[in-house]
Amino acid sequence: MTQTHKSSLTPLIAANWKMHGDMSWIDKVTELDALLPKNEREHVDLLLCPPFTMVSTMHVLGSPLSIYIGAQNCHADVSGAHTGEVSAEMLADAGASYVIIGHSERRAAGETNADVRAKAEAAKRAGLTAIVCVGESLAQREVGEAIATVLAQIEASVPDFVDVIAYEPIWAIGTGKVPTMDDIADMHAAIRSAVGPNVRILYGGSVKPANAQDILAVANVNGALIGGASLEMDSLAAIARSAPRK
Ligand code: 13P
Repeated sequence: MTQTHKSSLTPLIAANWKMHGDMSWIDKVTELDALLPKNEREHVDLLLCPPFTMVSTMHVLGSPLSIYIGAQNCHADVSGAHTGEVSAEMLADAGASYVIIGHSERRAAGETNADVRAKAEAAKRAGLTAIVCVGESLAQREVGEAIATVLAQIEASVPDFVDVIAYEPIWAIGTGKVPTMDDIADMHAAIRSAVGPNVRILYGGSVKPANAQDILAVANVNGALIGGASLEMDSLAAIARSAPRK
């Protein structure tokens, strides 16, 4: 895969709120800002990905605070008869600057590599930064196919222009289980060789304040995609603080 698009490797600390939250949660934007004075956040980019309903309001709050807002999915088309879907252009219009694509929870619900690729193309078309998720199942890891699985997913679902990939082993999501640091290093090195030097490669799966420093220090880990621990701003801020000044 040739990488043509240049991007910064500043660690990206990205919150995936999944289907959690209501409009009272928009205050978490200002809470996060207050928890992280300038000198405790200049080494990272901060991104909150709430449910669609909160993107616009959170963007209004987050923009002057340099906290990016993203979404968790988009449709591949610009518009059309797709009841209940939201296009990348609509997300950009609402103020999103990132969109998570191909999360394993969506792949498990039927999203194919081709769907993921089409959504990544849609994100680019709309001017959004796609975070494309890949990761192996426990069965694939146990038979020694973790790296081959992830590289095949990247080949099939990640277009060359993508700036951010999130490696999320499915068995580590929401379970409290984390690969060894050596396993994370091996996987991220393999992804790095496939995508070139300019892609940010995030790790996701049970990242917590207690393990974030070790995980974020691993070579070729350029940030984290955080679920459960991102719902509380003090733990998200602690994770951000523990990112290395690379
Ligand atoms: P947890 O941090 O809750 O394991 O979730 C990870 C994840 O799925 C982020 O996209």
